[in-house]
Amino acid sequence: MKLLFLLSTLSVSLASVLYPRANNLVPTVSSTDTLLTPGGGGTYPRLAHLADGSVLGSFTAFSGGKNILTVTRSTDGARTFTPWGIVATGTSNINDLDNLQLVQLPNGSILATFRNHDKTTANVYTFYRITACISHDNGQTWAFISQVDQRAASGVNGLWEPFGRISVNGAVQVYYAAENAQNDQDILMRTSTDNGATWSAETTVAGATTTGRDGMPACTTFTTPAGAARLLCVFETTEGTAPLFTVKSVESSDDGRTFGSRAQVFVPGGSQNNAGAPFVVTTTAGTLVVSFMTDEDTSAHTWASGASMKILTSLSTDPPVWGQKTTVLGASSFWPGLYSRVDGSGTVVGCADLNGAQCRSISFA
Ligand SMILES: *[C@@H]1O[C@H](CO)[C@@H](O)[C@H](O)[C@H]1NC(C)=O
Repeated sequence: MKLLFLLSTLSVSLASVLYPRANNLVPTVSSTDTLLTPGGGGTYPRLAHLADGSVLGSFTAFSGGKNILTVTRSTDGARTFTPWGIVATGTSNINDLDNLQLVQLPNGSILATFRNHDKTTANVYTFYRITACISHDNGQTWAFISQVDQRAASGVNGLWEPFGRISVNGAVQVYYAAENAQNDQDILMRTSTDNGATWSAETTVAGATTTGRDGMPACTTFTTPAGAARLLCVFETTEGTAPLFTVKSVESSDDGRTFGSRAQVFVPGGSQNNAGAPFVVTTTAGTLVVSFMTDEDTSAHTWASGASMKILTSLSTDPPVWGQKTTVLGASSFWPGLYSRVDGSGTVVGCADLNGAQCRSISFA
């Protein structure tokens, strides 16, 4: 009996060594490339889920001397995209339109936020805006609704890279980067409780007490094993490594009203390398996935070119424990973003500008 028991215990533990239990942490990247626009091209790709089951792709296109904030649409779970709408068009040499991001509002309309800057033909910025436009037809046609933030250029005081999300109580939160000086930038957030018509004063999400260029925020909610709700925001920063970038995060236990201390997410390997432009999502299986671009695999030191899009994963623990580094798209991949499919597959879609906006599906085992 004793021996039998010992044997069966042995075989169970042997089995768990040979066949480790799936924890949905280990990524497999599909080799199929999905173009965000049938004709190719476009930069700063982002995806957004709509209540009607469609997925909107958004990116900046450049054509005929114009920056064109473009929307495409998928009705097959972000596997193919067709042309859909244009949010705004600007004359490239005097109107810097970029950093488009979409989110569906609680009332069903779609909110687009983006940078919308005036500059001289000598490329000197004169006015900075984070502008919001609204669509009442699932992203096909768009109209101006409000300025989330704006200010005349004065010294180094740009506004960049909005990220919009809907809070638990239905408010819109827009996170964005605001420069204080050449070597210092903070992540700010403004809230709208009227579906993007008006905005609160700003709160500082990250960077209030640190010096460094905190930029390119993205956030996701998750539930800890103990059942606690958390909001995790990632950003790039030069804090402690200037002029080189690494990726850090802050967490909120009150849905974005306040944030705790900073944690390191990723430091690139080698020397004099960068990691930046992070994004983060939670899969329907509860896996946390963070993406970024890093030039750690080349010794070219030509940041931001030379970078690949990579991801890390973590269980939904507080704090997350990041690992399983995996390349999604090779060099040069710019301004990556992630989208978590809502179809229950637990898969995500990773997109970057690799000779134009393209995406790959990622599964986890
Ligand atoms: C949602 O709210 C915004 C801001 O008030 C408004 O412009 C829009 O028309 C609303 N959409 C719907 C479908 O009611």
